[in-house]
Amino acid sequence: MPHPYVLLSAAVSLDGRLDDTGPERLLLSGPADFDRVDEVRADSDAILVGAGTLRADNPRLLVNSAERRAARVAAGRPAYPLKVTVSGTGDLDPTANFWSTGGEKVVYTTDEGAVTAAEALHGLGVDVVPVGPGLDWRAVLTHLHDVRGVRRLMVEGGGRVHTQLLQQGLADELQLALAPLVVGQPHAPKLFGDGEYPGGPRNRLRLIETRPVGDVVLMRYVPTAPGTGPVPSAADHRWLALACELAAECPPSRTAFSVGAVVVAADGTELARGYSRESDPLAHAEEAALAKIEPGDPRLPAATVYSSLEPCARRASRPAPCARLILDAGVRRVVTAWREPDTFVAAADGNGLLAAEGADVVVLPEHESAAKAPNRHLN
Ligand SMILES: NC(=O)c1ccc[n+]([C@@H]2O[C@H](COP(=O)([O-])OP(=O)(O)OC[C@H]3O[C@@H](n4cnc5c(N)ncnc54)[C@H](OP(=O)(O)O)[C@@H]3O)[C@@H](O)[C@H]2O)c1
Repeated sequence: MPHPYVLLSAAVSLDGRLDDTGPERLLLSGPADFDRVDEVRADSDAILVGAGTLRADNPRLLVNSAERRAARVAAGRPAYPLKVTVSGTGDLDPTANFWSTGGEKVVYTTDEGAVTAAEALHGLGVDVVPVGPGLDWRAVLTHLHDVRGVRRLMVEGGGRVHTQLLQQGLADELQLALAPLVVGQPHAPKLFGDGEYPGGPRNRLRLIETRPVGDVVLMRYVPTAPGTGPVPSAADHRWLALACELAAECPPSRTAFSVGAVVVAADGTELARGYSRESDPLAHAEEAALAKIEPGDPRLPAATVYSSLEPCARRASRPAPCARLILDAGVRRVVTAWREPDTFVAAADGNGLLAAEGADVVVLPEHESAAKAPNRHLN
């Protein structure tokens, strides 16, 4: 199911706290960083915070710059991004600033919480959307994408919301403003709570930018750990997009597909990458990538192979097709964008071969057009 691009945004102390325990909101950023946040908001289709943040901070969550609002309107967008909150109980204060400022608002809640929320917010024009007996984040993101047309979602906390989105592999990017202060209070809210995160405790996110903004440092990270089993994660999309980009590197051919492949360990470490005809005129992408990894590498059984095209199931040019090479390498998870058409081999079913031997195969059709792009000449 397509989701919006999910950007987690927070200001955080040197000891990883979002706030102190006092009644007033702790201001971690300065004016320059608040202005940066305003710009990120203006670029977003929707801004989401948890009900805990509404209660603690009573935020407005507006685009404050008149120029940025005007630019949004000139581009055919509403002046303010959609405001979104999540609540399990539906126990929401109708006098909060969130409801009386900005543009449209939506609450995602449980079936039970919807009754309470609809009563509390009656007459405020708020869309109350129940997503089931519990708060299912995938259902929330799918609804935002499909029904609300949200393509870029900025999540501004709090800790419980950030924690769940990162733990469930649903965050595409983290933007953290590291503030030069130490809170030191054991019960102050943490940015990320305890629990299991994708890739385990050794997973390293990829740093994509650092920049001083006033006296804070902006750090941007992207998660790297693949999803598990049949459930795709935001990192799966990123790695598959890379595989599709690699396909453009292939020496051209009229008699074979151009394909890219990446092999990634469970902790998000890239083990190898390859593309068709990289090492010799007959090499396939998955074969080229796997050949760069020591056979028996202990990371292979938990690794994921990303391939822009479904791994081949039959092959005249080599003794073993790529689906077999993947299984023989011990890999049990494959993410691909495009099912193999009948161009060279009729009814090839590499995905079926992989699945029949217990591998999880995830097809992400959102990347199909990128996977096909370097193969247009074969139509
Ligand atoms: N420094 C920063 O950038 C920043 C930004 C935002 C917030 N904060 C701070 O973060 C703190 C608030 O964080 P928080 O963790 O307490 O609250 P939160 O993450 O904002 O919201 C948590 C609430 O969201 C609902 N919720 C979230 N996930 C749910 C699930 N799976 N099932 C059911 N309900 C769910 C629940 O609402 P119900 O209780 O209604 O059921 C829950 O109490 C405040 O101190 C605030 O100042 C700091």
